[in-house]
Amino acid sequence: MAEHIFKHGLAVLGAGKMGGILIEAFLKHGLVSPHHIFATVQQSSSERRTISSAQITPGNNNHAAAEKSEVILVCLKPLSVGHVLDEIRDALNPEKLVISIAASVPTAYFEIRIGSKVPVIRAMPNTPSMVGEGITAICKGKHATTEHLEIARKLFDAVGKTVVVDEKHMDAITGLSGSGPAFLYIILEALAEGGVKMGLSRELATLLAAQTMLGAAKVVLETGHHPALLKDTVTTPAGCTIDGILELEEGKLRVTLIKAVVKASQRAKELMFTESST
Ligand SMILES: NC(=O)c1ccc[n+]([C@@H]2O[C@H](COP(=O)([O-])OP(=O)(O)OC[C@H]3O[C@@H](n4cnc5c(N)ncnc54)[C@H](OP(=O)(O)O)[C@@H]3O)[C@@H](O)[C@H]2O)c1
Repeated sequence: MAEHIFKHGLAVLGAGKMGGILIEAFLKHGLVSPHHIFATVQQSSSERRTISSAQITPGNNNHAAAEKSEVILVCLKPLSVGHVLDEIRDALNPEKLVISIAASVPTAYFEIRIGSKVPVIRAMPNTPSMVGEGITAICKGKHATTEHLEIARKLFDAVGKTVVVDEKHMDAITGLSGSGPAFLYIILEALAEGGVKMGLSRELATLLAAQTMLGAAKVVLETGHHPALLKDTVTTPAGCTIDGILELEEGKLRVTLIKAVVKASQRAKELMFTESST
């Protein structure tokens, strides 16, 4: 089990879907003790649900959570970030670290809104984090150091892989790996439908499609080979795969996926001005 890297408190402001996934993973990996997590949500206490097997019940007091914590993980929707920063501003100081997973919100926005030299790390995780197979891109703001990046890396390594990037790439990453699981679920479901159409049970077809997707991804990661080369190894001349590929090309699967990532990335630039999120 990993050491507890947070002994003085981790605030998770906005413990919704993604915040909840991260809390579960941090606890599972022993990065932080449940007593040191201060989670918040918006809803009233009567509607609050418990997060995780550790029975963490989120509160509503962002300021108190930030005050008790050395790391403040902002998991709010982009539009909520500004007013919550106003609430917690005087609980922050340059000894603390703010890590934000809010899509679209630049580190400069935090720095200006907070108004002091508080280090800020921006991160973009994704939902496969719930099974330890996420990927998180992290970048640092003006006042953050490589030590701060390392703290963020340790946290996000608990939910999968972590890559350090330049902030200018964060919207593209949001459109690719942030939204990507949704695109892949659609492909996976459609492959399974193909199996169902050909007489397989839905359960078997879904298992075959999911394990095939997992296996193909693993081969790319483990061999480092170009996907096109790997595709060629499956595609026997005059075999069945090339007939399937012909259908994919006619259906413009490739260009559709490219455009999906481009659109999602462009949308990621606008989120902080709208009600929506990833
Ligand atoms: N979902 C993803 O795949 C994903 C991936 C990467 C990054 N993100 C980013 O993560 C952030 C959260 O997304 P999500 O999908 O987890 O959304 P979500 O489930 O709606 O979580 C947002 C949480 O913020 C809480 N909240 C709202 N106003 C608040 C306030 N004033 N004080 C404290 N908590 C407040 C909400 O409370 P209630 O529960 O009471 O409404 C909710 O629990 C977004 O910025 C998104 O871009 C999401």
